[in-house]
Amino acid sequence: MTAPHTLTLRRPDDWHLHLRDGEMLRAVLPASAARFGRAIVMPNLRPPVTGVAEALAYRERIVAALPSGSRFRPLMTCYATDAADPDEIERGWSDGVFAAVKLYPAHATTNSDHGVSDFSRIVPLLERMQSLGMPLLVHGEVTDPAVDMFDREAVFIERVLSPLLAALPRLRLVFEHVTTAQAVAFVRAHAAGGRVGATITAHHLLINRNAMFAGGLRPHAYCLPVAKRERHRKALVEAATSGEAAFFLGTDSAPHPVAAKESACGCAGIFTAPAGLELYAEVFEQAGALDRLEAFASLNGPRFYRLPPNDDTITLVRRPWTMPAEIAGVVPFRAGEEIAWTLTETPPLAETPPLAETP
Ligand code: NCD
Ligand code: ZN
Repeated sequence: MTAPHTLTLRRPDDWHLHLRDGEMLRAVLPASAARFGRAIVMPNLRPPVTGVAEALAYRERIVAALPSGSRFRPLMTCYATDAADPDEIERGWSDGVFAAVKLYPAHATTNSDHGVSDFSRIVPLLERMQSLGMPLLVHGEVTDPAVDMFDREAVFIERVLSPLLAALPRLRLVFEHVTTAQAVAFVRAHAAGGRVGATITAHHLLINRNAMFAGGLRPHAYCLPVAKRERHRKALVEAATSGEAAFFLGTDSAPHPVAAKESACGCAGIFTAPAGLELYAEVFEQAGALDRLEAFASLNGPRFYRLPPNDDTITLVRRPWTMPAEIAGVVPFRAGEEIAWTLTETPPLAETPPLAETP
């Protein structure tokens, strides 16, 4: 019998994560903290995290909810609104509180009601970020109801992103959770010098839009941006497994209570954190690219964010396990189904460095 295939990589980071707050935070955080060294934490709480004080308080709540001995570091983001104050955001950046600004077009997704209604209103902020080298993380979908749901990312590139990057030639930007071949091509065209990067979720690498309609309506396969056609999924797999520096891991793990998903108007969001790295290993294995998983998961993100890679490792073994049907009242991705890779025990972790050093 041959030994099971094991895979050791530098510890990865999650460059797009929803941790929520309160009880939900305490329930979902351990899964991310067991796998990832750091995570870019999304600010779409109710109310959103828009100021330095709120971000510091949220960071403290996250750290307080960590399992003891965990070295996981939350990297905080600022939620951009029409009223965003460039001075406040610069202060958060200089003090090492804000790692980036998150831009949701108003009403594009869950808790985005306070998002930016018109990009022209935040030009002073974007100019300031450009001069600071502070990354802008963009949810890239138009909200125009006349635009077909499946075209909203591609139309966003034409209507918003191209003009934005032309007007601000040094602004550093992450095109978050890309879902289309058009987005992949756009990122490649603007990736020179580490200017534009993109996160890719595990679920967008694993499912296409059919998953939402498999034998009936499947709310747990619904997220935003919505999964697209198979040809787009293939383009995402090709980009993620290419090793190109512009593409990096961002789960967009977005837990919602079962009742909020299984509803006449269900919330968008897929909870992948309980297999947050294992699902990517499956994709890379299927693509014959396991040797490139480390670049995508552990190296490209830190390079874009100008941070050192993590200094410890994580090991996966090719041993299947079954994802629970429900975790803390949330139905995870692949609920009740098989996950091909298992996380093995990682070496004992060293003492937690002081949090003031983040990001
Ligand atoms: C996210 C959420 O639930 O907060 N939902 C999602 O479908 N991805 C919001 C977001 O990132 O769009
Ligand atoms: Zn998200």
